[in-house]
Amino acid sequence: MKKTLIGPFSQLLTLANIPLKGAIEDEALLVIENAGVLISDGKISGIGKFTDLKSEDVQIEHVHGKSVCIPGLIDAHTHICFAGSRANDYALRNSGKSYLEIAKTGGGIWDTVTKTRRATQAELVDGIIERAQNHLKSGTTTIEIKSGYGLSVDEELKMLYAIKEASSKIETDLISTCLAAHMKPKDWVGSASAYLDEISSKLFPILKSEKLTNRIDAFIEESAFSSLEIAPYFRKARAMGFSITVHADQFSTGGSETAVHYNAVSADHLEASTQKEIELLAKSNTIAVALPGASLGLGCDFTPARKILDAGGALAIASDHNPGSAPMGDLLSQAAILGTFEKLSNAEVLAGITFRAAAALELSDRGTLEKGKVADFISFPTDDYQEITYHQGQLKPNGVWKNGVKQ
Ligand code: NIG
Ligand code: FE
Repeated sequence: MKKTLIGPFSQLLTLANIPLKGAIEDEALLVIENAGVLISDGKISGIGKFTDLKSEDVQIEHVHGKSVCIPGLIDAHTHICFAGSRANDYALRNSGKSYLEIAKTGGGIWDTVTKTRRATQAELVDGIIERAQNHLKSGTTTIEIKSGYGLSVDEELKMLYAIKEASSKIETDLISTCLAAHMKPKDWVGSASAYLDEISSKLFPILKSEKLTNRIDAFIEESAFSSLEIAPYFRKARAMGFSITVHADQFSTGGSETAVHYNAVSADHLEASTQKEIELLAKSNTIAVALPGASLGLGCDFTPARKILDAGGALAIASDHNPGSAPMGDLLSQAAILGTFEKLSNAEVLAGITFRAAAALELSDRGTLEKGKVADFISFPTDDYQEITYHQGQLKPNGVWKNGVKQ
């Protein structure tokens, strides 16, 4: 099979050779000028100067004009399988009501559960595809999607089958996560522990046998589940070989400590984390995932990203795209804005939405541009990579390649 050479790009950032954890200065970025990407069978088979990669047996796909090439973006935390809108919650919040107050009075997660339960699997598939295709245009080539608006064995299965079906119909790689522990369903008669027991004993085996997901998430919070209630659930998940991820420290602490205790792959949110949690995370293997879209949607503090990096933690940045707390869903805008408020270098922002995000999903085959990695990359119409964050998401990609094929 003939190899394809794509380029020349004015600049190419490999994002390779940067540690997974800790602060990064822009000097650490490997920038190749007049670069090319050599592709064979959907994988990168060479990265370097365009002229050095040129040879007679390669087919050339020319890139015209200014272009900066970086790895395809990876969104490690979304809830884009849902039905309905929560515009009314947003208006109520802007008039002074809190997220938790709205949840207690008929809005919040339960409102989306009601609407999602009413939707058919086909409707959910259409919604996922529409959102994922929009994200692909903005450069996101891999997206994690959680269930969590079903909250019963059957309704969670409907969501996870919808994610699986959508995945088979589009180019974007969709990584599913079971978030049946999003909140105790309002129609559940019994304790939170009994609900979690029902999910772990009835749903977990089906997730395995139907290969629906290998990831279990839980929302640890006053309005959802306590660390104590979640303990047997996570023990069971671990014993069955699932990876664990946690919605942690969004409004109060406790979640990240539990995440580290269960060796979770990631602890996400962390807006309320104090120095104690930051240091605990930094010493652990758990990736801290900042969700600036939720801070922008709720009008509250950002995740202390600077402190996490300075303590030596691994920081990924994700959109949390969902109808309630994070309706915007624009990963690059949000990461750039987090960078402005938290004083992050370009390298830290870009690492957070590429290879550090890949690590949060345990994907070692993507996130950097190196030989052997999946050929997912994007280009922006500029000749200076600093322009990517500078425009705060308004500089859109002019090229998106998934598995080496231009979309
Ligand atoms: O990540 N915090 C909990 N879950 C989602 C919000 C879901 C919703 O409000 O519908 C989050 O912000
Ligand atoms: Fe979330």
